[in-house]
Amino acid sequence: MSKPHNIIWHDSSISKEARRKQNNHSSFVLWFTGLSGSGKSTIANTLAKELYERNIRNYVLDGDNIRNGLNRDLSFSDEDRSENIRRISEVSKLFVDNGTVVLTAFISPFIQDREMAKRIVSEEEFIEIFVSCPIEECEKRDPKGLYSKARKGEIPDFTGIDSPYEEPISPDFTIYTNEQSVSEIVESILNLLEKRKLI
Ligand code: ADX
Repeated sequence: MSKPHNIIWHDSSISKEARRKQNNHSSFVLWFTGLSGSGKSTIANTLAKELYERNIRNYVLDGDNIRNGLNRDLSFSDEDRSENIRRISEVSKLFVDNGTVVLTAFISPFIQDREMAKRIVSEEEFIEIFVSCPIEECEKRDPKGLYSKARKGEIPDFTGIDSPYEEPISPDFTIYTNEQSVSEIVESILNLLEKRKLI
């Protein structure tokens, strides 16, 4: 990616620290990664509601929604998935600067792209959560009917079928959506955030 020309950064009049202080909580990104149908959006949205109840300002950025607007020009080629993650990371960084807790739900299949996301957001403000679920289970759930279409060859480059998913090597946290209930998982993430004094 080339450097922008003739662009000079303008500092904002209200600092991230001031916004956090006003909100009474820290701001960071919870980066959920996993196969389609693994439960990323369900967990992120349920957790968002819990955070909201605790007066913690938060926002969910979700693959299917973002690909309807901001990233509607992107395909599922490796290159476009990378660009998808780059843009989401930049948007997440702005939210964090605004004092908001961000929950992202993107397959984000490539280690290299998740590393990039961590760099863009900054390491201390980035928590990687691996949403682990066997592909057989995701395919059985098939909430959008996409696995069945992909098996018939109607969707090329489908993650887990003819496009790879690289599991995180050392995520901050792993959740097993085929073994635990949504409420148990949400509880365990809240515990982690409390332990790390993030909420
Ligand atoms: S990512 O790989 O670039 O991170 P993202 O999370 O934005 O993917 O979008 C994934 C969602 O797009 C899936 O949950 C699914 O609903 C839909 N989708 C459509 N085509 C594909 C495909 N080829 N591979 C994976 N998901 C796809």
